[in-house]
Amino acid sequence: MRSSSVVLIALVALAAYYIYIPLPSSVSEPWKLMLLDATFRGAQQVSNLIHCLGLSHHLLALNFIILSFGKKSAWSSARVKVTDTDFDSVEVRVFEGSPKPEEPLKRSVVYIHGGGWALGSAKIKYYDELCTVMAEELNAVIVSIEYRLVPEVYFPAQIHDVVRATKYFLQPEVLQKYSVDPGRIGISGDSAGGNLAAAVSQQFSQDANLKNKLKVQALIYPVLQALDFNTPSYQQNVNTPIVSRHTMVKYWVDYFKGNHDFVQAMIVNNHTSLDVGEAAALRARLNWTSLLPTSITKNYKPVVQTTGNARIVREIPQLLDARSAPLIAAQEVLQHLPKTYILTCEHDVLRDDGIMYAKRLESAGVKVTLDHFEDGFHGCMIFTSWPTNFSVGLRTRNSYIKWLDQNL
Ligand SMILES: *[C@@H]1O[C@H](CO)[C@@H](O)[C@H](O)[C@H]1NC(C)=O
Ligand SMILES: *[C@@H]1O[C@H](CO)[C@@H](O)[C@H](O)[C@H]1NC(C)=O
Ligand SMILES: *[C@@H]1O[C@H](CO)[C@@H](O)[C@H](O)[C@H]1NC(C)=O
Repeated sequence: MRSSSVVLIALVALAAYYIYIPLPSSVSEPWKLMLLDATFRGAQQVSNLIHCLGLSHHLLALNFIILSFGKKSAWSSARVKVTDTDFDSVEVRVFEGSPKPEEPLKRSVVYIHGGGWALGSAKIKYYDELCTVMAEELNAVIVSIEYRLVPEVYFPAQIHDVVRATKYFLQPEVLQKYSVDPGRIGISGDSAGGNLAAAVSQQFSQDANLKNKLKVQALIYPVLQALDFNTPSYQQNVNTPIVSRHTMVKYWVDYFKGNHDFVQAMIVNNHTSLDVGEAAALRARLNWTSLLPTSITKNYKPVVQTTGNARIVREIPQLLDARSAPLIAAQEVLQHLPKTYILTCEHDVLRDDGIMYAKRLESAGVKVTLDHFEDGFHGCMIFTSWPTNFSVGLRTRNSYIKWLDQNL
């Protein structure tokens, strides 16, 4: 009896030690977030073990776990028709709101899910629920793209998949088939999906045949640059769930099929040090001392190395490619972009990627709404259902859908 209670106490203490992480009290429901983070961390550790044992790539193992968690599609709505199909051999899941006699043509959003270019699926319940609610509340057609992921493919294949599916959808006969108004189509995505949405918007706005085809872009806590991992938000949220700085840098390196040995050097900005000539011209485009307000920069200091490691961008030149880092695109590219919504969260390494992009777009003359959530954390918008329901999840989703309703 006594020894079993000792074991029990030890187990509880061990579990508490594993789950507890210091979190600011301003984040939405900190205890629930700790549990969510511990679950995700556990899944990552199991995946790393499977990788070390040589059984499978850790990202494949991790995605297998995520897909199993997200499998049970508890969500369905009698008013939304869901179809799995192919657009130019890219898999998509289409959500159609029910026809309204007074509005024969529907609005539409091309949606790109998040997951570090390596994880997630248009078919897990989190995105099913989001897209169903969007289709229903906006009475719209939502095209959720099942693009291929790392390690099956690497940059820029993810972009190519999204471009192919979107171009196919934009053909007049396809829009007609889905009763979509060609003048009211937007592109959107969260996290790495926001990165892909931003890249595709830039590509389309440069293409004479596709220019003005997208009415809006809506970017949810997007990933937008890999040149500075010491923005105030990267410094402030080094170990904040759901994505720590170290994890984010690894997603980047994996996206480029790069060498993990560079991760530590990239964390201290050795890849964009002053002696790396290739990066010099781009630094000014993400100079946060001028792009961010002092309420955000606080007392954080820029991390600029005098000497670093020039081998990194020579081996991974994709780091400096605006298709991977839309924030560093030239002003001439930005000025042609459609009306933009950017949602940012305070407790997120990527907060300043979004705020800097909003600032650069505004300076280029683009209409931008920056929607910031003080208690938000990275990924919160898909956490709206029990047991992972967060009040900030519902509030971000409502705010996003409201903006789409008023602007699309
Ligand atoms: C960054 O680069 C400097 C100069 O080459 C080197 O001394 C330092 O060890 C590097 N830091 C990391 C974390 O790689
Ligand atoms: C960044 O902006 C600050 C303030 O405007 C300026 O002093 C600094 O030279 C800029 N740095 C770069 C690399 O452009
Ligand atoms: C989450 O869902 C449960 C069960 O439906 C509910 O009791 C709780 O209030 C919800 N929490 C939030 C923050 O929405």
